[in-house]
Amino acid sequence: MSAQKQVRRKTPPQIRAMKGETTIVSLTAYTARLAEQLDAYCDFLLVGDSLGMVVYGLPSTLPVTIDMMCAHGAAVVRGSQQALVVVDMPFGSYEAGPELAFDNAAHILKETGAGAVKLEGGRALAPTIEFLTSRGIPVMAHIGLQPQSVNMLGGYGARGKTDLEYQAICEDAAAVEAAGAFSVVIEGVVEPLAREVTSSIAIPTIGIGASHLCDGQVLVTEDMLGMFERIPKFVRRFGELGQNIDTAARMYADAVRARTFPSDSETY
Ligand code: KIV
Repeated sequence: MSAQKQVRRKTPPQIRAMKGETTIVSLTAYTARLAEQLDAYCDFLLVGDSLGMVVYGLPSTLPVTIDMMCAHGAAVVRGSQQALVVVDMPFGSYEAGPELAFDNAAHILKETGAGAVKLEGGRALAPTIEFLTSRGIPVMAHIGLQPQSVNMLGGYGARGKTDLEYQAICEDAAAVEAAGAFSVVIEGVVEPLAREVTSSIAIPTIGIGASHLCDGQVLVTEDMLGMFERIPKFVRRFGELGQNIDTAARMYADAVRARTFPSDSETY
């Protein structure tokens, strides 16, 4: 018998079964340290490809690589105990076809120890989701605003404002459910659409910029911690870490320049 403590994480079927029972809570995490702090409060931790902007200072999620997702996914798995860890499949790693998607998703799960992958797309990606889920890879879908398609969309504005787009997103939701996704992130959509999608499918909807009517919510942690000046309308700042870091860095610099740090008690 191994002396190692048994880690019991939430599973994709458990997340799916939470619909209608309890509200699902999620935040993004990219590092072991942050995962350790968020773990107790979240049903799943999302290793989002938003790490491209947040961690690497890239202009969009498009340049994010599988290696980046694997490194950060593995760190989040190491730092957490109970939350399901879901890792984003980066742009270019799944769109070309189900076989490519399977190889890359399997690689991500093997390298990280995560429990599921997330990929952006509705009806067009349904055959790929079906291929993955029928071969043992749990998939969280992502519909509505899909940041990896920013060049096609022309920006990050809210979706579902026209009848055509509204209807298309409803069809996307039905398609990813039928393909076997265990839940679906719905991003940046008008409230009536979030309500309609949430009531019309049996898998949980996880909202981001999609009103309180979804089955759960996810936010980019650094956004809600107040680490960026400019944040989207749908983000609430639950902390002001940006200001705290600024104050601490200034105090440190002042103390070093004044030669009051390190003091005698901080010296060997
Ligand atoms: O990459 C990400 O952080 C995401 C969330 C915004 C849902 O996909």
